[in-house]
Amino acid sequence: MQYPIWDVPQLGGGMVIAMIAIFHVTIAHFAVGAGLFSAVTEHFAWKRGDQLMLRFLKDYIRYLILISFILGALSGVGIWFSISLVSPEATSALIHQYVWGWATEWVFFLVEIVAGYIYYYTWDRVSPKKHVIVGWIYAVSAYMSLVIINGILSFMLSPGEWLQTREFWDGFFNPTYWPSLVLRTISAVSLAAIFVTIIANIAHGYSREERHRIITAGGRWLIPLALMIPVSVWYFARVPDAARDLVTGQAIAMTLFLMFGMAASTLVGLYAYFGLILKRRYINLETSILLGLIAFMATGSMEFVREGIRKPYIIYEYMYSNGILREEVEVLSEKGVLSWAPWTATAMGTEISALNQDQRGEALYRAQCMRCHTLDGVNGIKLLIKNWSENSIRHALENLHEEQYFMPPFIGPEQDLQDVTRYLLSLSGGSDVSDASMSEKEGQS
Ligand code: HEC
Repeated sequence: MQYPIWDVPQLGGGMVIAMIAIFHVTIAHFAVGAGLFSAVTEHFAWKRGDQLMLRFLKDYIRYLILISFILGALSGVGIWFSISLVSPEATSALIHQYVWGWATEWVFFLVEIVAGYIYYYTWDRVSPKKHVIVGWIYAVSAYMSLVIINGILSFMLSPGEWLQTREFWDGFFNPTYWPSLVLRTISAVSLAAIFVTIIANIAHGYSREERHRIITAGGRWLIPLALMIPVSVWYFARVPDAARDLVTGQAIAMTLFLMFGMAASTLVGLYAYFGLILKRRYINLETSILLGLIAFMATGSMEFVREGIRKPYIIYEYMYSNGILREEVEVLSEKGVLSWAPWTATAMGTEISALNQDQRGEALYRAQCMRCHTLDGVNGIKLLIKNWSENSIRHALENLHEEQYFMPPFIGPEQDLQDVTRYLLSLSGGSDVSDASMSEKEGQS
């Protein structure tokens, strides 16, 4: 609340985060899975004298470095950049609570990158034994960064005991920690495996037989996807009750996204087992890219659900999506939020104390609503309240959370409520519309 936030016209800050995050999460999971795949595959390839897999791995790692190190690192910075502009309080809370967690994660990330480059550049230049060790260093450090980030991400949805104790480990090993780690591990190895099938098709110098053998080897790593449904059930058994209610019926969009994610994953897993392993089918380039896109959408859907069911909180039962702490609500309900958000006035070139009534309404809107609503773009408030009467607006404001469970309640004294109502009325274009239009609106909906 105290920090200014980024006003992204049309798109809204949340959308910017989502676009960067889905991209980043996919690449990051892929990098983790690819590390494990390479280390295990190289280990066994040397043992069995499997020259083909050794040759392929070298190609694979080159693409891995190009894609995951460059795009992964860039989009990772993009996430920090966007979350700290859009949700500064939550970013600050996470850094304060988990500063050593982040520090450890960054060290693992550094080790991962350095080991990855050494792994690639020492190919055929050091003894197999040494090379496999470097591969394992890469794989383990990449996995460790997942182990740590998973603690912090799952904490945001299910802080558990932490809400009472405020202890690092209570928040870290929170109720969804383990199921979430298993889900992410499955998704990591499957993304890596799909990538194997793509590279097997585009890398040069392999015969059809050889490509086929590589695809079958990669296909085995897709089989764990068949476990997606039972592990998701385990996961949802551990999320907070209210969040689970959303996916089990209250929010159709969430339910559909979840079902899509689970079904797509399971089908790819079954296809891998029956098609690739048992029937030894071949996957051509188009199909492997298609599988990659399905995996991308499934990953995106699952992340969307995780983010969605956390609403109206950004850190469950601790901080609302708009940065207001639950423990502040009592004080803020009396005093109003504006003294906590001086930047809202600065944005209008003045100070809180000098705001007139219209400006106060806008400032309050910026403080409490702008995080999720744009004026006339994504989730645009103007369209949502088009032609609404004063009464309907007022009624919605008093029951924000009940109207749409996504939203935190409006927080502030009577005066603030009136000011925002006036401001919204000016946006709705319904100012001179009498209450007659309210029944009209209800008739429509
Ligand atoms: C955490 C995100 C979030 C915040 C914060 C938020 N909203 Fe919303 N709001 C939503 C979503 C999501 C919807 C549903 C949009 C839809 O149905 O298409 C919505 C819908 C609405 C609607 C339409 C409700 C209806 O019944 O049709 C109104 C009015 C509204 N918001 C006003 C506000 C106001 C005023 C604030 C600030 C006091 C606010 N919102 C804060 C996410 C948010």
